[in-house]
Amino acid sequence: MRGMIHEPRTSGYLSGVRRSRLLVPAVTALVLVGLAAARRAPTGSSDGSRPGASSAGPTMAVTSTPMAVPSSAVSATPEVASCGAVGIVHGPWSLRPTESSVLVRWDACREASADLKVTREGGGAPRTYTGTRRRSVVRASYDTEPGVAPDKAGVRYLTEVMVDGLAPSTCYEYEVVVAGPALRGRFCTARRPGDSFVFLATGDTNASTGKSDGVFAKVLGRTPFGARPDLTLHLGDMQYYDQVVESYATWFPAMDRLLRAGAIAPAIGNHEFERPHEFEDYYLRLFGGAGLEAPVEHYRFQSGGIWFFSLDTELDLAPGSPQGKWLEAQLADAAAQPGHRASVVYFHKPWITLSTYPNAPELRRHYLEAFRKFGVRLVLQGHVHGYERFEEAGITYVVSGGGGAALHDLDVTVGSRPAEAKARKAHAKRHHGTVVRVAKDRFEVRAIADDGAVLDTFSVPFR
Ligand SMILES: [Fe+2]
Repeated sequence: MRGMIHEPRTSGYLSGVRRSRLLVPAVTALVLVGLAAARRAPTGSSDGSRPGASSAGPTMAVTSTPMAVPSSAVSATPEVASCGAVGIVHGPWSLRPTESSVLVRWDACREASADLKVTREGGGAPRTYTGTRRRSVVRASYDTEPGVAPDKAGVRYLTEVMVDGLAPSTCYEYEVVVAGPALRGRFCTARRPGDSFVFLATGDTNASTGKSDGVFAKVLGRTPFGARPDLTLHLGDMQYYDQVVESYATWFPAMDRLLRAGAIAPAIGNHEFERPHEFEDYYLRLFGGAGLEAPVEHYRFQSGGIWFFSLDTELDLAPGSPQGKWLEAQLADAAAQPGHRASVVYFHKPWITLSTYPNAPELRRHYLEAFRKFGVRLVLQGHVHGYERFEEAGITYVVSGGGGAALHDLDVTVGSRPAEAKARKAHAKRHHGTVVRVAKDRFEVRAIADDGAVLDTFSVPFR
């Protein structure tokens, strides 16, 4: 598929690790190594707070943990010579918001600053947090095209700051404490149950096309709802090595506007595996741990009583599969939580589309009962580079893979998929983002193109 390179993966499944009982960096390393060993090849079925551990308060000791990858596996050496004055190569970005905390991360090529200054948006006294550094040897590399900034193998220090003691339903600005150009960002804590807020969904952010930032400019500022999104659900395919001119060294700066606008909660796409070790060294190392608890490849979190479920369509979702059983059990658990209002399920490869990509009608049929029973009315999908909206059996399925990658033909299978053609209510071959306002009893949704045009307007009741 589009020249992607898949790592050989072995069978297995990671479960049962409860990060809340452990220090984040240590468990992150444990989970990521375990997950890398546990991934398996895709099946055909879906083609187509920590609320501040007491030991990790506002000020944490800077530590270097053991390498996550055995040094014997690589021949690379630290790229200190090209490390720059500040030493931070990627980020910052944030993830895993709760009502009282958020994680802020950045990646460094040496033991750079681990200090973060946080201020309430709109003013207030700044507070400084100190994070932990996790030393890893990155094996993935990319240096094939002249003029494209390379990704080099070598030692990296992922810095992670647990920013806790925060107020719910509040947005903050942060700044990495460095003697150099400011590295700033913004995040919002999870909303109190019942609160209104805005979130963004986007996928397939192939930033080398030059289209991504145009989308972000229109959907990350003041939206039609009068508020900025708290966070972004990334629908998968974050970076595209197979577009030849895109490396992580070029992708991160092009994604700055999105990564610094609020927390990111990604779903795993097929393009996360294009180069040897890419998945472990980039996706998992940098973005793993976005959920409230392990496992990492599919996870959940909540804000304002809306529970979000990120699935991994590179793993089996068939009825009875480990991920499928997890989903059904966790949907039920979320629906029983105090303050639950609705749940949103999101993933990469769509279950319904009229593009050339496969559908998964068997998955739509199977999960319908659980979706109806446990309050899922909105499903967000990526992989298809464009916008589609379907309404089927009381569920709204949105395809929103318009985050920058080259656009797809959305009518390829109109003639051969009559049921899906009947269910499609809107589509647009446009770069765009989907902005969702959580209102009192419904989701109000706008699909907004990179020129600001509103491509689609609809709402989805919570029940
Ligand atoms: Fe994809």
